[in-house]
Parts: sequence; structure tokens; C-alpha cells
Amino acid sequence: VSSSSSTYNEPHRPQIHFSPEAHWMNDPNGMVFFNNQYHLFYQYYPDSTVWGPMHWGHATSKDLIHWQNLPIALYPDSLGYIFSGSAVVDINNTSGFGKNGKAPLVAIFTHHDPKGEKSGSNTFQNQSLAYSLDEGITWKKYDSNPVLKNPGIKDFRDPKVSWFEPDKKWIMTLATLNDITFYSSKDLKDWTKESEFGQKLGAHGGVWECPDLFPLTYNGQKIWVLIVNINPGGPNGGSATQYFTGNFDGHTFTPNQTNTKWLDYGPDEYAGITWSNTGSRKIFLGWMSNWQYANVVPTEKWRSATTVPRELGIEKVGQQFLVTSKPVSELSTLAAAPVAIKNIKARKFDVTAKAGKMEGPFRLELSADKLESYSITFSNKLDENVVVGFDKAANEYYIDRTRSGKVDFEKGFAKRHTAPRFSSRQSEKMTLIVDNASIELFADNGRSTMTAIFFPHEVYSNIQIKSTSNLNIKSLVLTKLK
Ligand code: FRU
Repeated sequence: VSSSSSTYNEPHRPQIHFSPEAHWMNDPNGMVFFNNQYHLFYQYYPDSTVWGPMHWGHATSKDLIHWQNLPIALYPDSLGYIFSGSAVVDINNTSGFGKNGKAPLVAIFTHHDPKGEKSGSNTFQNQSLAYSLDEGITWKKYDSNPVLKNPGIKDFRDPKVSWFEPDKKWIMTLATLNDITFYSSKDLKDWTKESEFGQKLGAHGGVWECPDLFPLTYNGQKIWVLIVNINPGGPNGGSATQYFTGNFDGHTFTPNQTNTKWLDYGPDEYAGITWSNTGSRKIFLGWMSNWQYANVVPTEKWRSATTVPRELGIEKVGQQFLVTSKPVSELSTLAAAPVAIKNIKARKFDVTAKAGKMEGPFRLELSADKLESYSITFSNKLDENVVVGFDKAANEYYIDRTRSGKVDFEKGFAKRHTAPRFSSRQSEKMTLIVDNASIELFADNGRSTMTAIFFPHEVYSNIQIKSTSNLNIKSLVLTKLK
């Protein structure tokens, strides 16, 4: 929801997801909670609807849902474009950028020098700083940038910085071609290499980008999560977010499991990382697109949006640690009176006949005691549709957008995407967040997550549920989100 929502009425315009008023965006950047405001910066090209010289756009929110657009925070300069990175509240003024007892907001980002790249050098990506003393409205770049120089690695970017309290130091988690390098610093300016991780672990179908490192608590035990975005090489093609679980001791990340895990199996969550300075609550936000077609999706005024903010948790399923995702509870600030349907027992159920048309953004929550194959079809009167379902024999969820509307802008777009189910529970708890041009599936109580975008010629407003055996749905709750 945007402050200027009167101008947010174009076809396919997300209503409950952040999107820039106009022009191109990709990764969310520098997300930080400060003085009761959530800041969102993002990769932004204000002159076109395709990727170009990168700026950091800026928006703030008090509840993660209603966003106010603000002036561009960072512009390209003689050192290059402003690529992805993070922001921290430097509470102890370790950087010395603070003034009169005021803690600075410090942004740590990649300077990407297009001239260097063209000239064939390998050192065109370097890490730099900027700081703000007025709540992120205006920024001053550090005059001794860059602070971390490239040692000769072509892809050397996307610093995610966090405070490591036991050693009273900052840790930078950096994507370095096909692995992660950890650096540490006492003042955000002088960085020392600590270790490398991952060359032989996880998925390597593309370069590693946009990492994140943070602990979650499982049964009183600290489990560290290392997020590594990868492009291409995702589980359903193109870009996607993988993660590792393990331990971090201030120097080295030691995984406790080496299988490849994905935070979101769908095609359209990428470059996702978490907010800084939110205590033990971990709030994740991704870019809701895929590099495979992001530049050609059929929107005219703007391109791309973010996912819904998601709260991360950790669970053990069998021997495996799994990071779970759920839409943040703040989403309910948009909730209209819910329509609840109880005990659906049939092979086919016309939700629309019972609950009326569901146009625009809404949430669908389904719970069942017995897990059966089912499909939920969202369609319009042009017979375009998106089908979300569970296939019991394959033990997987799917989102099928083959006949979703405009699909021929890219040949791989019209597809059925799948995600495994992990738990062996017989019950099901599933939440879908549906906006004009996207669906986010949080299945198996958040253990399997998928995001997909689509571009129907008319919004979907009909919902039908089908099954090959008798459905046994305990409750289905539909809530419009306004
Ligand atoms: C990820 C990414 C980052 C980079 C930015 C450039 O989507 O490629 O690695 O910093 O986008 O816009």
C-alpha cells in the first residue's frame, strides 16, 4: 500500500506490495528499523523501466505494510553505480559519523564501476559507505571510499553488515563470485578478512549474490542462518534464494547440514534478505521477480515489486533444520471482515458461489486434518487462470501459470513450478496471499514457500477447489485486504 495510491491503479499494479510509483526496481537494500520506522531502500533506475545505472530508492513504513515514497537516497557517482548492500544503526558511533550524541545510519554498499567493467579489469566492484544524520532522508558519502577494495574477484558485492556482540565488532557477509567471504571491522571503515565459505557446498548454477547472516532460536539453541541468493540456478529456473544452517563464531561459518535448501521455491522471490535492528524478530523481504524475464514483464509505468514482508522461524523436520516463512502479522491491519466456510466435503467446491467474487488483494487460509491432493483455481471470465495445489503422490506443491494471461513475453514463463513438502504430518495449514499480479503460497504451516507473478488481461475473481478424492477441508477463510 503506498501513500500515493490514487496513482496506483494501472493493470497489474500490486495493491498490498511495495512498488515504485514509476520506473525500474530490483533488489530491496539497506532495510533497517530505526526510531519506529522501517526503512526500505531498493535498487532503482529512475530514468527507465529496464535496469540501468543503479540508485537507491527509498520508502518508509511504520507497519511494514503502508509505505511512504521518499526522495532517492543514493545517486551514482565517479566511483560507479550504487549496487546492493545494507544499512545499520551505528548505536555506539564506532564509525565516528555521529554528531552531538546522535547515532548515524550507515549504509554499506557496492560501488560498481561500469568503465572498469568495460575495460576488462577485474576490480570494478568495491565496498563503500554513506551515512545519514536525518533518518535516512539525506546521505553523505564517506570521503575515503571505497573502504573495502577488490582483491581481483570479478563478482565482489552486496555487503550485508551486522553487529557481532561477543567480539564487539561488525561482520560483513559478502558475495564473492561463487562463495561467501566474511570480513570484520571495529569501525565499519577498516575491514579484515576472516574466512570463506561455500565453494563446494550448496547450489552453484550461477553466481552467488545478496547474502545475509543471522541467528534464529530453535528450542533455546542459537542456529545461524546464512542466506545466499543465486542467479541463475534456482530450483524452478533463473534466480532464487538458498540458505544454509549452522554455527557462526565471529570468524567462520560451520554448516550443520550440507544439502541445498531454498527459502522460496517459486520463480519470483529473489535477492531476499532481512531487516537490520529488529532484535530477535527476523523480517525477510524479497524482490518479486526473476532475472530470467524481469526486464520484459508486461507493465508499462513501473517494473517490479517486493514480496510481502515475511517473518522467519526455524524448525527441525526429521533431522533437517528448516527456515519457515509466514506473512508478517501486520498484514492483518488491512483485513476486512473474513468469510469463513467450514467442513467442505466434496470433490469439487465452488468458493465463489458461496463467498462471492474476490477481486483485488485477499488472503486465503485453508486447514485440513487429512492431507489430500487438491487444486485451487483462480480465474477470470476470459478463462485465464492460475492453479495452486498439492500433489499427494509426488508429495509436492505447485503453482501452474501456464494459462495465466500474458505469457509470451518470455518463453519459459508459462510453466508449472513445484516445491517439495517436508513434514510427514497428515494435517495441512496453508496461507495464500493474492494480489493483482502475484500469489504467495505459505504451505505446510510455512515450511514450503512459493511466489509467482502473472499478468492476466483481467483480474481473477473466481475461485474453485477440486480434488481427485473427497476433499476434507476443516476451514477455509477468505479475507479481503484493503
Ligand atoms: C542481484 C544483483 C546484485 C547487484 C544488483 C545490481 O539482483 O545482481 O548482485 O548488486 O542486483 O542491481
